[in-house]
Amino acid sequence: MNSSGLSGQRVCVTGASRGIGARACEVLSKAGAQVLGIARSQGELFDLRERLTGQGLDFDFAALDLTATDASQRLDSLFAGFVPDVFVNNAGATRPAAFQDVSLEDFDRVMGLNVRAGFFASQAAVRAMIANPASGNRRAIIHLGSMLGEVALPGRSVYAATKHAMLGLTKAMALDLAAHGIRVNALGPTYIETPLTEPLLNDPAFRQFVSDRMPLSVPDRPIGQLQDLDGALLFLADSSLSGLVTGTSVVVDGGWTAQ
Ligand SMILES: NC(=O)c1ccc[n+]([C@@H]2O[C@H](COP(=O)([O-])OP(=O)(O)OC[C@H]3O[C@@H](n4cnc5c(N)ncnc54)[C@H](OP(=O)(O)O)[C@@H]3O)[C@@H](O)[C@H]2O)c1
Repeated sequence: MNSSGLSGQRVCVTGASRGIGARACEVLSKAGAQVLGIARSQGELFDLRERLTGQGLDFDFAALDLTATDASQRLDSLFAGFVPDVFVNNAGATRPAAFQDVSLEDFDRVMGLNVRAGFFASQAAVRAMIANPASGNRRAIIHLGSMLGEVALPGRSVYAATKHAMLGLTKAMALDLAAHGIRVNALGPTYIETPLTEPLLNDPAFRQFVSDRMPLSVPDRPIGQLQDLDGALLFLADSSLSGLVTGTSVVVDGGWTAQ
């Protein structure tokens, strides 16, 4: 089987300003896609555009708060001019706290971004895809799930609930959208070093815990790195590789959830 790459494909990535989203923009544009990144931080998006277009890659951005009340309307306008073939629903947040200490504000913030905003951003992308069927059956939605969509950890009640919700949504969307040739899958990473996990992984005891939990962890690279997700992301985005894959999750966790 040969990959036809993502040449000629339009890809939209949310949470593009840093971490996994910025890496996804780079990897997918290097595979030939025209990439549109979305996040709030205009400065970081601008720097990313400078870096990627400087390498001859096709990348632009839109600064947008996905939790704003007008987010769906703004996405509709954006997708009227840029119909995505692949939509990477990546923007996400966490606020670790013991279940009994979770505030309403923390609950709403994390649920509001990871589930509510993710749901309606995906809906805007799907509506644009369905209204513009020209790209045939090479279309895909990729939700950034987590291994915490499969298992849980202490202090992660809200985050784990959001990621389990996104796995359910992945399955339900896959069924609704199969008739439109749109595949829907999730990518489920273990802990990856990004600005999101920096405060947690700066704690040597937590770092050791993460490394100890991963059977594939090796001494010179004990914690997951951004590049560890590249292959799974390309596989899920590229319908010439994953054309019959839908409604499932590709977990990249060094064996964590196998135990
Ligand atoms: N890192 C990990 O270990 C790990 C493991 C499993 C799953 N994940 C998942 O992977 C995804 C990315 O994680 P990450 O580690 O790369 O996180 P990160 O470094 O904190 O980046 C989060 C991204 O989301 C964007 N974002 C946050 N709120 C937003 C909003 N209201 N509107 C638009 N964009 C918003 C941020 O940009 P702005 O601040 O500029 O808006 C940023 O680009 C998340 O869904 C996370 O749950 C991460």
